[in-house]
Amino acid sequence: MADENVKDGEDYRLDRNAELRFEVDSRNEVQMELVEGMAEVFGTELAKKQICAFLPGSKVAVYTYHGCVVKLRGKTEVAYISKETPMTMYLNTHAAMEQMRQKADIEETRGPRVLVVGPTDVGKSTLCRLLVNYAVRSGRSPMLVDLDVGQGQISVPGTLAAVVMERVADVEEGFVKTAPLVFHFGHKSPADNMTLFNTLMSRMAEVINIRSEQSQRVNSSGVVINTGGWVRGSGYDVLKHAAGSFEVDVILVLDQERLYNQLKGDLPEFVKIVLLPKSGGVVERSQHARAEARDMKIREYFYGVKGNFFPHTFEVKFSEVKLYKIGAPSLPESCLPLGMKASDSKTKVIPVLPTMTLLHHVLSVSASDSGDQNIVETNVLGFIIVTGIDMDKAVMTVLSPSPRPLPKSILLVMDIQFMDIK
Ligand SMILES: Nc1ncnc2c1ncn2[C@@H]1O[C@H](COP(=O)(O)OP(=O)(O)O)[C@@H](O)[C@H]1O
Ligand SMILES: [Mg+2]
Repeated sequence: MADENVKDGEDYRLDRNAELRFEVDSRNEVQMELVEGMAEVFGTELAKKQICAFLPGSKVAVYTYHGCVVKLRGKTEVAYISKETPMTMYLNTHAAMEQMRQKADIEETRGPRVLVVGPTDVGKSTLCRLLVNYAVRSGRSPMLVDLDVGQGQISVPGTLAAVVMERVADVEEGFVKTAPLVFHFGHKSPADNMTLFNTLMSRMAEVINIRSEQSQRVNSSGVVINTGGWVRGSGYDVLKHAAGSFEVDVILVLDQERLYNQLKGDLPEFVKIVLLPKSGGVVERSQHARAEARDMKIREYFYGVKGNFFPHTFEVKFSEVKLYKIGAPSLPESCLPLGMKASDSKTKVIPVLPTMTLLHHVLSVSASDSGDQNIVETNVLGFIIVTGIDMDKAVMTVLSPSPRPLPKSILLVMDIQFMDIK
């Protein structure tokens, strides 16, 4: 794959259509400078002489359409130049979407809704970032939806989120997320509660339709939807459900022909299904690396990508808040109250009593004011972490992005924990 290995501090010339790929060492930062020519990182253009700093563990590709000279400084796990990239195919995909947007503008209809699917570690999130960046660079305001509750790009793990993008992603810090719409799911995989997951997808689609109707600009810009890597068995059903809920026009299948053929056979003909190759630069991550990435996402939420946020710690009386979780454990239908289906219990709002077991759990702060069933489909305002519990005093200590008091009193417990240690 490597056409040329790259050494620390030396200038390298990249031909047209080539890519410098590198992985930053787990303890150090790496600086990259565009010395000459034009290049971009996952769809964000670099300025000439711009020096970008990449955090430990980042995996980066600097791509050039027309050729450039770059330099790396710092310790990389691996750094090489490759001339084999699927970037032109990704660019063509963008061009096709842009044509659909132009048509939508003329006809005052909806722009393309694209679902990106594929197994884990094939570059789904990266492709979404690229397509959103290219759309913004074409003067659009696309919506990015992230249905990956394990490794989402918009909010913390355990959530489904959507946001209208007006600016390209920052090379170092990713997308700036202004006023995202976030729903609490509470688990790391859709498998943990499929009924709830499908309910939230449908709700998200509804809100997106309303948002699109308010602005033709957003409407014609379309929606890019990212998904998790669960593509077999029930995971496949989730993808079909997503395609239906969001009424997608296009499905981009990364890497897997089997999935491509399955979708072709199962979906109506007006859904265009496109198979795209994955980039040779995408590296597989271990289970451990995935867990670390989830942790990092939560850390980023409170402390910022570069540690430039300053979260607050304060006490909250148990009496000031109401704690709930969504979904009861499955019971056979015969044990349920008359008229209730087993699937109903999966979206049931269940009161939680504060105990020591809450320690380190992520809690979503619901925008809802009343503790009824509506909580499930109400968005959340943000997140806190339980960092301490005093049962005698009936208080808990929380880590919060903003100072006290909490904006609302209804808190939803996630099945996800975070240890607030540096
Ligand atoms: N062309 C590339 N060269 C080097 N690294 C890449 C390239 N494309 C993606 N990556 C990196 O590979 C990792 C996995 O990609 P990602 O898009 O998150 O995959 P998926 O969403 O399918 O799990 C990310 O860290 C990403 O930055
Ligand atoms: Mg992903």
